[in-house]
Formats: sequence, structure tokens, C-alpha cells
Amino acid sequence: MRILLTGGAGFIGSHTAVEMAQNGHEIVILDNYSNSDESVLERLEKIIGSPVIFEEGDIRDYDRLYEVMEKHHIEAVVHFAGLKAVGESCAMPIEYFDNNVAGTVTLLRAMKALNIKKLIFSSSATVYGVPQYLPLDEKHPLSSTNPYGRTKLHIEEILRDVAASDPEWSIVCLRYFNPIGAHASGLIGENPRGIPNNLLPYVARVANGQLKAVQVFGSDYETPDGTGVRDYIHVVDLAYGHVCAVNYSANHQGWVAINLGTGIGYSVLDIIRAYEKACGKPIAYQLVDRRPGDVAANWADPKLAKELLGWEAKLSLQDMCESSWKFQQSC
Ligand code: NAD
Ligand code: UD1
Repeated sequence: MRILLTGGAGFIGSHTAVEMAQNGHEIVILDNYSNSDESVLERLEKIIGSPVIFEEGDIRDYDRLYEVMEKHHIEAVVHFAGLKAVGESCAMPIEYFDNNVAGTVTLLRAMKALNIKKLIFSSSATVYGVPQYLPLDEKHPLSSTNPYGRTKLHIEEILRDVAASDPEWSIVCLRYFNPIGAHASGLIGENPRGIPNNLLPYVARVANGQLKAVQVFGSDYETPDGTGVRDYIHVVDLAYGHVCAVNYSANHQGWVAINLGTGIGYSVLDIIRAYEKACGKPIAYQLVDRRPGDVAANWADPKLAKELLGWEAKLSLQDMCESSWKFQQSC
């Protein structure tokens, strides 16, 4: 299929571009570079071994979206473009609702006008709010604890209404757990601007000496070692999940939400130990207070992805840390 990847220059979008191209899809990337830059394109072309079509543009620009999708005869859209920092969303809710929610509505308008009705959306496990039970399955009640999470919830609801309005739409919301790691080539990965908010990029920068020590947020949780537990998923496994979702959408109509996770929870200390093994040196850390808003533990029930998409995560925590370290050394 000819597929538009909005936000395709970003962390998850770039890995998905590789998997799509390697599985026979033609891809077009649209990105406004608000959280990425052009250097990823050269790296993508090196991995894929052929030119990648890239269009600079903003998902809030209807005319630009229409022009790009018409020009490239797009048949399906994988929609990554969005702002994603929880703390920033509390300080800038208007920008988050404009970019994420209004941007998605503009995309839907342009898709409808061109009769493109297959959409895969980057949702998040954040839509489950505070877990009422584990593992989290797709029937778990939905809620949100911050504006970023609310943008994902609102978008999921909008997409459900759109699918209900016209049986030709096929919409898959993929609820990602904690994507980490990098492509095995070490050419693409996650390299946030400034001091990282998320655990893995922070650990990676302690490993390469840019930061001094990992602050472990909370060591008195009701978890095996007292530190927070999450379902970390290799970004390459996650990317392949999008290929499966696009293939699924070719033969199914309606709306569905599907978890992409491994079903395994690892603690912060497990991550630090695995990273030490990957980089061959000790990672300094300090146990500090809990981070406000964090939950003790969450992990996915990944059965629905297996059932509907035939997808399951294959790569290990060690693969995640080794690939991250390989990429980090090239940054
Ligand atoms: P990212 O910031 O690396 O990639 C997002 C890309 O979208 C960037 O290249 C950015 O420049 C682009 N973008 C942002 N706003 C845009 C706009 N208005 N128009 C065009 N391009 C725009 O983030 P990522 O980690 O690759 O995440 C991709 C998607 O997955 C996001 O929607 C995010 O909310 C969601 N998600 C990410 C995680 C995670 O842990 N990384 C977890 C759950 C869900
Ligand atoms: C966070 C977001 C979530 C988002 C995800 C990916 C919150 C509350 N949730 O998830 O919405 O989808 O990032 O962008 O912000 N930790 C440390 N030290 C650090 C950083 C993190 O100990 O420097 C711990 C955290 O307390 C947590 C675990 O590491 O237990 C993972 O944290 P993080 O990588 O930020 O992801 P989440 O909080 O799960």
C-alpha cells in the first residue's frame, strides 16, 4: 500500500518507515521537524537502500495535507505526529490540544475529502490512567491524569465516532506501552533534546558520561525491588506492529484499540542492570523521592494483538539496551 507516515521523522515513525519499506509498502513521510531533523532521512535511506519520499508539512495545514496525499495517491495513513511530553502538556495545554487534537481533526478532514479511510493511530497506555488491575487489557476503564493523556483519549473518542458514522472507515488505535531501544544498525534511535524526561534516554546519557547519575524515582513502591515497574517494548517490535495493523486494516472495517506491549514488567533497577551489561560499565544511580503522577507498576495484556494482528513482541530487554547503546555511541 502507499502509506503516509505523519511524524515519520520521529523516534517511532522512523523505525516504522524501515519496517514498512522492508515489508513491501511504499512510504511517504510528512513531518514539521518540531521534534526531529532532516538528518534522519539520510540514515533511513542508508538502512532501506533506496530513496525515501519526504514532505515537510504540518498536520494542522489542511491544504498541505490534501496536496501531499493527493500527489502520492495515499491509501492509508499511520498517524504519529504529535507532542508527547507529559510535564510540558501541563504547562502548555492549549498547544497540546491544538497540535494533537485539532491536528488530527484536520488530517481526518483531508482524508475524508480524498476518500482515504484507513488510519492507524499512535495511542498510549496512558489512556488507562491509574491501573485498577494488571495486566492492562483493552477493556480496562479509560481515564487520564494530564493534558497529554487527555489528547489521546479525546482523539480515540473522535476516531470511534468517525468510524461509527461511515462503515468504510478502518481505524486502529495502537496503545503503546514503553517503547525503547533503537534499530540494530545504530543509525536511528531516540535522542531527545535537552535533559531526557524518560528513563532509557537518561540512562543512556549517564552511560556515555553526559549526565552524572540516574535519579531513581521511588524505591518504596509495592514492587519486587521497590522501584517502578513498566512494560518496556523494543521500538523495532513496536514498528513491526504497525505493518501488521496496516495489513489488518486492508480487510477490516470499524474501530478497534489494541495494546502493543510485551506483557512483561521490568523495574527501574532491572533496566539499569541490563544497561550496565550492554555498555560494559557501571551506571551511577541515586534513590530519590517518587515522581508525582507515577504509578507503581503497569504492564500490558498483549493477547488481542496476537489474536487480531498475529503480532507479538520478540526482542528481549538485553536487545533493547544493546541497540540503545549502539545508537547512543553514534550521537
Ligand atoms: P517523536 O517526537 O520522536 O515523533 C513525533 C514526530 O511528529 C516528530 O518528528 C515531530 O517533529 C512530528 N510532529 C509533531 N507535531 C507535528 C505536526 N503538527 N505536524 C507534523 N509533524 C509533527 O515522538 P515518538 O516517540 O516517535 O512518538 C510518536 C507518537 O507516538 C506520538 O503521537 C506519541 O504521543 C505516541 N506515543 C509515544 C510513546 C513513547 O514513549 N515514545 C508512548 C506512547 C505513545
Ligand atoms: C511516561 C509518561 C507516559 C508516556 C511515556 C513515554 C508520565 C506519568 N507518563 O511514562 O504518558 O507515554 O512516558 O513517553 O510521565 N524513572 C526514573 N528516573 C528517571 C526517569 C524515569 O526512575 O529519570 C522511572 C519512572 O518513575 C518510571 C520508569 O522509570 O517508574 C519509567 O519512566 P518513563 O520512562 O518516564 O515512562 P513512564 O513514566 O512509564
